[in-house]
Amino acid sequence: MARVALIMGSVYGAAQELSNTVQQALHDAGHTTVYNSSALVTDIHDVDACLVITSTTGQGDLPSNLESFYFSARDTMPMQQQKPFGVIALGDSSYPTFCGAGEKMEELFYELQGIAPVPMLKIDACETLEPETKALPWLKDWMKSLPTV
Ligand SMILES: Cc1cc2nc3c(=O)[nH]c(=O)nc-3n(C[C@H](O)[C@H](O)[C@H](O)COP(=O)(O)O)c2cc1C
Repeated sequence: MARVALIMGSVYGAAQELSNTVQQALHDAGHTTVYNSSALVTDIHDVDACLVITSTTGQGDLPSNLESFYFSARDTMPMQQQKPFGVIALGDSSYPTFCGAGEKMEELFYELQGIAPVPMLKIDACETLEPETKALPWLKDWMKSLPTV
């Protein structure tokens, strides 16, 4: 079983609510989580995998509760040594910078030398009212990359 860091960014609560649901699903599958309302770089120091769930704000910007994590990680580069990561990005396709924060986090984890076993999931608020309907099947697939013992 794996220890998973949940890295959450949310402004109005949708990504936070989804993170709570995903945390429960991870626990139901027997995994443990490290999950803070404002992620810390130390959250990813001693885990088997990282899962980012973030909305986008402004014009392709990170939610403010994720900024400190993002800039600290850029400064300190906590290398992931081929550990699996995943990104679930909430956004709205009426913005030209659709899921921009998710893209930034994906780029960061690639630079940290993580590996993405499944491509980033982008959930468009214009077409999906209940993000978990998309996120939970994606999560099931993503969890296949986690250690099971
Ligand atoms: C002020 C504002 C700016 C936004 N900017 C973007 C954006 O640049 N790109 C995008 O894909 N979505 C954008 N969105 C849409 C949100 O990311 C989307 O509604 C998301 O589901 C909100 O999740 P949250 O409640 O966790 O913050 C914006 C929404 C608001 C209200």
